[in-house]
Amino acid sequence: MPTQEYDYGMIGLGTMGRNLVYNMCDHGYSVAGFDKDASKVDSLEKEADGRKVLGAQKLEDFIASLKSPRVIMLLVPAGHVVDMVIDELKPFLSKNDLVMDCGNSHFTDTDLRTEQLAKEQIHFMGVGISGGEYGARYGPSIMPGGAKEAYERVAPMLKAVSAKVNDEPCVSWLGPGSAGHYVKMVHNGIEYGLMQLIAEAYHLLKECLNMSNDDLHNVFSKWNEGRMKSYLIEITANIFAQNDEFSGKRLIDMILDTSKQNGTGQWTSQSAMGLYLPIPVIDASVSARDLSALKEERVAAQKILQWHKVVFKENDSELVDWLENALYFSMIAVYAQGMSLLQRASKEYHYDLKLDEVARIWRGGCIIRSVLLEDILSAYSDEPTLPNLMVNNQLALKLEQCQDGFRLAIKTAIETGIPAPAMMASLAYFDGYRRGWLPAKLIQAQRDYFGAHTYERIDRKGIFHTQWDQKQQ
Ligand code: 6PG
Repeated sequence: MPTQEYDYGMIGLGTMGRNLVYNMCDHGYSVAGFDKDASKVDSLEKEADGRKVLGAQKLEDFIASLKSPRVIMLLVPAGHVVDMVIDELKPFLSKNDLVMDCGNSHFTDTDLRTEQLAKEQIHFMGVGISGGEYGARYGPSIMPGGAKEAYERVAPMLKAVSAKVNDEPCVSWLGPGSAGHYVKMVHNGIEYGLMQLIAEAYHLLKECLNMSNDDLHNVFSKWNEGRMKSYLIEITANIFAQNDEFSGKRLIDMILDTSKQNGTGQWTSQSAMGLYLPIPVIDASVSARDLSALKEERVAAQKILQWHKVVFKENDSELVDWLENALYFSMIAVYAQGMSLLQRASKEYHYDLKLDEVARIWRGGCIIRSVLLEDILSAYSDEPTLPNLMVNNQLALKLEQCQDGFRLAIKTAIETGIPAPAMMASLAYFDGYRRGWLPAKLIQAQRDYFGAHTYERIDRKGIFHTQWDQKQQ
């Protein structure tokens, strides 16, 4: 077995791990890989095609093959598997070794692991990686967090393997501790939002206009040529054109209508709730997946909960136009919510995130890449402490231009009984955020009425409580 020969170690040789190994090799790095599944280790070497790759069947051999101080990357399922791997690794690690968790770990786990390994003088980094299989192989967006010095050690490699936009690598040190995993979590929350919004547009186009899959392919392809150009719109257009190998029909028509999830969207909502920061589009998107999973209940309810079907009678091309406005408007709203959550979390957890950098590294390689990120990048470059993307002058103008169409699209959803929870949440968020006056005063009065929770006044400072005239019924 070779000793101290390999630049990097990779534990977890599933789709992401294996592809990242080959990507690293293509950029001149030698990598040793280890996986509990011996067949994955075998195929890593078999498919190496002359690259300097080692597939180690034993953890001891894997460790011995690495140059010291070691850099070991983990691409294993989030949760207890990460802890198990770290526990197994620990006896073999030495001072100054660096472990990089490149999976979708919960940020609080990352903070704990960083703390625990620091006691043994082992460095730990939480690194978000986005881009799926293709991204891992040819250039993902990489969101590293942890000690800056640890990042510097691996920065040349991360820059080399990452996606590039205008020759700039889509990677940047984001902040200490769990900053990288937090940003990746919010990336996924935005991903949930965008996917749900696109699904709602699909639902409206399909049911109101009886669009065929070819029509849908054409609409999304056209949208992808304009201001909504993005990875998710692009793959949506492709999906409608995909034939099914079994039925001869379009594949989309053969897929069961319940969406699954691995938890990162839910974590985003939970974290935002914990920070008292509204991200209603992401919340609605998580709930919409949950609702879709109630398939049996939905099928039963369909027979009970009737509504008078209203047929869409306006011009077809008008609805397509309204929906383009609705989707674009909502895309801005969901990015705005994700960014404002990052801003709040950055203060709370002392990440000191640079939001322009976040926008910059999301422009390539990741699932939420879109041309809109160019506007977001310039918004935060002009004003790093912008309280909300929607109040950036350029974006505020774009929202205004979309508003009429957006409201008509929502009106159509309401009239035809087609659920559009994420689009509606986008509009309500906008309508709430742009009002200096909200009815929250009534909630304060009610709280004080039944629970003496006190309220503040508009005409004098202090906290007040009133003995309300309680007329019992
Ligand atoms: C990415 C993706 C990736 C994964 C999602 C899927 O950025 O490459 O976000 O991390 O595909 O976690 O999430 P769900 O299974 O929850 O939809």
